[in-house]
Amino acid sequence: MLEVKNLYCTLGANEILQGISFTVASGEIVAVIGKSGTGKTTLLRVLCGLENISRGMVCINGQKARHGDYGLVQQGCCLFEHMTVLKNVSYALQAVKNFSTKNARAVALDMLTQFGLKDKVTAYPNSLSGGQKQRVAIARTLVMDPKVLLFDEPTSALDPEMTNDVITMIKNIASRGIAVLIVTHDLVMSRKISNRILFLECGKIVENRPTEEFFLDPHSKQAKGFLKNMALF
Ligand SMILES: Nc1ncnc2c1ncn2[C@@H]1O[C@H](COP(=O)(O)OP(=O)(O)O)[C@@H](O)[C@H]1O
Ligand SMILES: [Mg+2]
Repeated sequence: MLEVKNLYCTLGANEILQGISFTVASGEIVAVIGKSGTGKTTLLRVLCGLENISRGMVCINGQKARHGDYGLVQQGCCLFEHMTVLKNVSYALQAVKNFSTKNARAVALDMLTQFGLKDKVTAYPNSLSGGQKQRVAIARTLVMDPKVLLFDEPTSALDPEMTNDVITMIKNIASRGIAVLIVTHDLVMSRKISNRILFLECGKIVENRPTEEFFLDPHSKQAKGFLKNMALF
């Protein structure tokens, strides 16, 4: 369970996050939506320690969150282009978790096999499709055994068919008991994948509701306007 309590973050002269509080249970998928520039990416960056908190607290399973608790799948995958698929996935196990080469490769191979990528282990990223790259990026994050998985726009570069693959994959991951937080501007995807929606505006959570309730009956003026703009309400 991820618990975010009264989180503030100031970047330069601007208070970007202004008292954010929410929880994500293990196995739950929560989507963060809202206009561009409203603080969605900053929220992910703060959670995984890339930006400092000016106030507030983040706990995972009742304890103060630590760096290794999070896995972040960044926008655009960011695979190591000069490494094979297997090395992309095994590398951090060796470098960060001190696995032997043999063990790291075995764990990576197992994860890639689960994701239908066994025949790609010796391939380099530039020979993969967008959907395959995204699966490798997710496998690479997942082998580190995170308690919370964060995604920034996981389907922004994918065609609709691939998007459905990635949705299925993320749902499978959540069902293993990982808390999943997804930032996206793809409202159709957010509706298909999430149990709950956090609607952010100007660094504040304006609505935190079960997904279908949010889309069928948004309460706030801001969410109504946002969905109307997107022709979804
Ligand atoms: N390093 C930074 N210094 C100052 N302002 C920043 C910095 N990074 C982002 N911002 C500002 O913070 C706001 C939120 O950005 P961001 O979290 O990327 O929004 P979103 O992901 O919702 O589009 C924006 O107004 C952006 O200009
Ligand atoms: Mg963003």
